[in-house]
Amino acid sequence: MPRRLHLNLFIHSRGHHEASWRSPLSSPLPLTDIGYYQDVARRAEAALFDSIFFADQLALGGDVAQAARTWLEPITVLAALAVSTSRIGLIATASTTYTEPFNLARQFASIDHISNGRAAWNIVTSWLAAAAGNFGGEAQVSHADRYARGEEFMSVVKALWDSWAADAVLDDRAAGRYARGDRIRPIDHRGDFYRVAGPLNLPRCPQGRPVLVQAGSSDTGRRFAARHAEAVFTAHMAKETAQQFYADLKRLAAEEGRDPAHVLILPGLSPMIAGTEAEAQRLARETNELTDPEVGRKRLSNRFGGHDFSQLPLDRPLSPGDFPPPDTVEAARSRTEVILNLVRRDRPTLRQLLGYLAGARGHFVTAGTPEQIADLIADWFADGAADGFNVMPPLLPAQLDAFAGEVIPILQRRGLFRTAYDGVTLREHYGLPLPASRFDSPDPTRRAAADG
Ligand SMILES: Cc1cc2nc3c(=O)[nH]c(=O)nc-3n(C[C@H](O)[C@H](O)[C@H](O)COP(=O)(O)O)c2cc1C
Repeated sequence: MPRRLHLNLFIHSRGHHEASWRSPLSSPLPLTDIGYYQDVARRAEAALFDSIFFADQLALGGDVAQAARTWLEPITVLAALAVSTSRIGLIATASTTYTEPFNLARQFASIDHISNGRAAWNIVTSWLAAAAGNFGGEAQVSHADRYARGEEFMSVVKALWDSWAADAVLDDRAAGRYARGDRIRPIDHRGDFYRVAGPLNLPRCPQGRPVLVQAGSSDTGRRFAARHAEAVFTAHMAKETAQQFYADLKRLAAEEGRDPAHVLILPGLSPMIAGTEAEAQRLARETNELTDPEVGRKRLSNRFGGHDFSQLPLDRPLSPGDFPPPDTVEAARSRTEVILNLVRRDRPTLRQLLGYLAGARGHFVTAGTPEQIADLIADWFADGAADGFNVMPPLLPAQLDAFAGEVIPILQRRGLFRTAYDGVTLREHYGLPLPASRFDSPDPTRRAAADG
């Protein structure tokens, strides 16, 4: 079968552009109105996207006075969208640092049942320093400790999802037998961070377990992704770094004994689309003019773990010395590298850098015609940079409509993208196998490999 392109829609605010919430072209609905998310999800499903995705942070941004920093809790949103859509995959972010594995395993198993096998979890360790203050912590858990805890968290949730065999429920009214006790097992996990008896208190979910998504790109983050992720979100400002990341992650997945084709790599792409390139650039410029440099400065500071950029002048070319070294940053380390690479390459002023980051926070931003966007997608897909894209429309829903109405038909005509859903579950859309159940594998070493 020819390789298939995968498209995820990343739904964020009224669009990914920092000033989207102020744009006359974005949705007039409040960001707390589920009707807004239902509307966008239905548009994405009509356009045949594989999935939609919601990010999450566990603290309010310090710039809420000048920036729309509110959203609904993502797993709750998935529950609503599971019943207002029928085919599209549903991905929510949840943190291994600030949740308990038992709660999280239940929540995602429930969403998988409610949606008939369309749930996915974006596994994050939470990079935002302020989150610690909301969970009893004095200081942020370090980058290394977050990933160590995340590893153990993964073995617990996988064991919980696997604690029921697929045939455990009999629901036999006549015989009075609801379940086969021997097909439900405790997990008895005792580790450094967690003690969990199990089993889970609901049956195995339709996909065996939700699809696992990950988005950390530091060295530790890549190894974690290679062990666990079935889809990987990543931010790149150039095709070359996306190619390096792609090759590296596929190699690491193979080293972990996994089929690299079962680790989909989806870089972010934020395209401003219009009938002509000049019109698309005008739209991008007009949206940029609505940004507030002080919001950008605070966001940059958050990315660098609270580093103070308040003294940096807006209009002098930057150098790497203006930033703390990435390996000292306890926040989103890989994104700091993306930003420093741009500074080394282009020597932008702070104003220019903030303008670029306003587009989509360090993901690939471009403005062009539908043909140009389709060409870029086809090129990255063919050239070892992507298995598909995490599409991040700068303005919602207007730029989603442009992508769905103008770019997707070109990709379909070129035979790159589906013309109808041919499955129901997200695993089917992504071309991923069902995870093997521990109950069906007599050999314990094979059980470990099946853990994926
Ligand atoms: C597309 C994308 C979405 C992300 N969404 C979240 C999110 O919702 N919450 C979060 O805390 N981190 C999010 N991240 C950050 C990563 O999951 C990761 O925590 C961060 O990059 C730090 O890990 P690293 O240093 O290994 O890259 C996202 C990253 C990308 C590329």
